[in-house]
Amino acid sequence: MTIRAVPVGIGHYLPSRIVPNAEFEAMEGLETTDEWIRTRSGIERRHFAAEGETTSQMAVAAAQKALSHAGLSANDIDAVIVATSTPDLTFPSVATMVQAGLGMTSGFAFDIQAVCAGFVYALANANALIVSGQATRVLVIGAETFSRIMDWTDRTTCVLFGDGAGALILEAQEAEGTSEDRGILSTDLHSDGTFRDLLYVDGGVSSTGTTGVLRMQGREIFRHAVEKLAKTAEISLEKAGLNVADIDWVVPHQANIRIITGTVKKFGLPMEKVIVTVQDHGNTSAASIPLAMSVGVEDGRIQPGHLLITEAIGGGLAWGSVVMRW
Ligand code: ACO
Repeated sequence: MTIRAVPVGIGHYLPSRIVPNAEFEAMEGLETTDEWIRTRSGIERRHFAAEGETTSQMAVAAAQKALSHAGLSANDIDAVIVATSTPDLTFPSVATMVQAGLGMTSGFAFDIQAVCAGFVYALANANALIVSGQATRVLVIGAETFSRIMDWTDRTTCVLFGDGAGALILEAQEAEGTSEDRGILSTDLHSDGTFRDLLYVDGGVSSTGTTGVLRMQGREIFRHAVEKLAKTAEISLEKAGLNVADIDWVVPHQANIRIITGTVKKFGLPMEKVIVTVQDHGNTSAASIPLAMSVGVEDGRIQPGHLLITEAIGGGLAWGSVVMRW
């Protein structure tokens, strides 16, 4: 018998304020258009957190929905992992704040920081905790308030990002040990810190003592993205003993529709097999995959037994993919 980390509940939260591209178009001095944003990124609107609304509050709201979807209570969870690059405070972790917000006083909680690849990294870590017997039910969350680290005078970045949170509960279940099992079937992680300058925040605790704002060489990232995402997907499928034809749904990181279509074209898959939310959410970094997955489950596209592949790349560079059967 094999132990698999099986998805048993999912949920998401989006702040109520929806910001259409027209708001950027109207910003004096920014010199952008709805047409540029739509055609270059696929983004039509995004959600921004309200003043005073924090990453941990959004994470708690998403977690409560995932718990109710799973029919579980907070005390059934024994580990909380939050993938975020925009924590409420430098410390403690957002994950411990989520624990407190849910009323959990047992188990353990920690954050993972791998920027846009954060949720894929968190899934891989949750899987490792479950298959090694260190946890039975792990609440895995991606939650971000990227609107707080934007340079509002930089049209090349501020139009691209949004806020939100998604939560997935993984549970240890006995399985046959075949690629027909439900749950996480393979993971593949990579990073290369020599690409630091392509995407970073220009402030931090031990350098400037400030929060800083996001800096990105978008064109360069784009160049790496399609190639690296297609490669990691190939590796994780091979590790699972599966191939592209077995995939029911691609749930990609939602940074840019052109990266998504380019990667899926490289796989040789039609866009009908892709869950796309970038038009409504923008790039929500570590939250984008669980948000898209939750939307796909909620609207009935993702069904039990379906084979999913998720992939993401972000600051670091850090990238990776996960193959799982819903
Ligand atoms: N409005 C109007 N014009 C703009 C805007 C804007 N908002 N932004 C840039 N432009 C201009 C540029 O100045 C440039 O003008 P120039 O040719 O006169 O110099 C022109 O548009 C083209 O700019 P490019 O950067 O070449 O545009 P590109 O087609 O590459 O699209 C984008 C830019 C959307 C950023 C794209 O490169 C991209 O999505 N990159 C990847 C982003 C990504 O995946 N990041 C990783 C995840 S994020 C994370 O980890 C936090």
